[in-house]
Amino acid sequence: MKGDTKSFRITPISFLARTTIAIVLLSVGYTLGLFHTSSSKPPPSSSSSSSSSSSPPLSISHVPLQLQTSTNFNCTTLKPNKESLAAYKDLLQFKKQCTKPVPQRQIYETILNRIWDGVSPYTGFPSPATAEHLLPLSSKPRGWGSTTPVFQDLISTVRPKTIIELGTFLGASALHMAQITRNLSLPSTLILCIDDFRTWPGARRLLRSDLPVPYHGDALLLHQFMLGVKNANESHRVLPFPFSTSSALVAFCEWGIYGDLIEVDAGHDFHSAWSDINLAWAVLRPGGVLFGHDYFTKADNMGVRRAVTLFAKVNGLAVRPHGEHWVLSPKPQPSTL
Ligand SMILES: C[S@@+](CC[C@H](N)C(=O)[O-])C[C@H]1O[C@@H](n2cnc3c(N)ncnc32)[C@H](O)[C@@H]1O
Repeated sequence: MKGDTKSFRITPISFLARTTIAIVLLSVGYTLGLFHTSSSKPPPSSSSSSSSSSSPPLSISHVPLQLQTSTNFNCTTLKPNKESLAAYKDLLQFKKQCTKPVPQRQIYETILNRIWDGVSPYTGFPSPATAEHLLPLSSKPRGWGSTTPVFQDLISTVRPKTIIELGTFLGASALHMAQITRNLSLPSTLILCIDDFRTWPGARRLLRSDLPVPYHGDALLLHQFMLGVKNANESHRVLPFPFSTSSALVAFCEWGIYGDLIEVDAGHDFHSAWSDINLAWAVLRPGGVLFGHDYFTKADNMGVRRAVTLFAKVNGLAVRPHGEHWVLSPKPQPSTL
């Protein structure tokens, strides 16, 4: 009995030794377990034979969850340095110099050749298959501030040969500008209408009666706009350019297509307006005027107004509010830039 009791007696030294062994065994077991876990589910890209001999680099999805959240996870924090800041500053710049302008009489043809193989989109328009999806024409298509006095004022002052509009929708403002140019004996002024003709997410809820029913996901805004242009007998000079404003303006810059008067009325958040204004400025002819709608809109915390103000400050220009619109001072001639 005594002897039995003695055989179970634990001395402080043996307790220490046993605990140490237990910890070592646990650590080795855990480590082996860890290797097993991380190599049992290789990342999709680790199928090559070369990666099987050496351990693959750890990707986040490949790291056990407890390590992803551990403060010991050895990730590299990228710190800004001189080079990255210079590159960042450079990326904030917009191109200011575009290609030599194409002659005025070649602008329409250049666009047809570049995007429609030389054929006017109005040729044979609307086909019966398209017409059946469109709404009857309204005498006053839906627009926003599209007939305010700013158009008459600027067109009579600038007497533009080419107008570029960013954000056309159903063409209310474009057709109003066409009417003004006719009244001012400028019947061959070109009006280039840049719009992706998709409206914006959620627009149908607000504007159901103004828009055709979408067809296989196509908003049909382009065709509804073209119907209005054709009906106004303006298809020889009011031309849709159905792309995003940024891709369209980059193309105009590369092709040498400039406007004497440019209206900005597409995206109303700061970044859209900022990009549109900068890209449009590059394709504005010296002496020309850049203006836009919704100077007072609250969208994106007055995003349009912040973009216009910043642009004017950076470029030393004056901003003049005109009703709901904003107007920048004319683009200086190159020698004074
Ligand atoms: C307010 S509506 C234009 C209204 C028009 N100026 C009028 O008053 O008759 C805005 C238009 O901009 C277009 N738009 C918005 N963001 C755009 C973008 N990034 N690229 C091309 N079009 C865009 C929409 O499709 C929409 O038709």
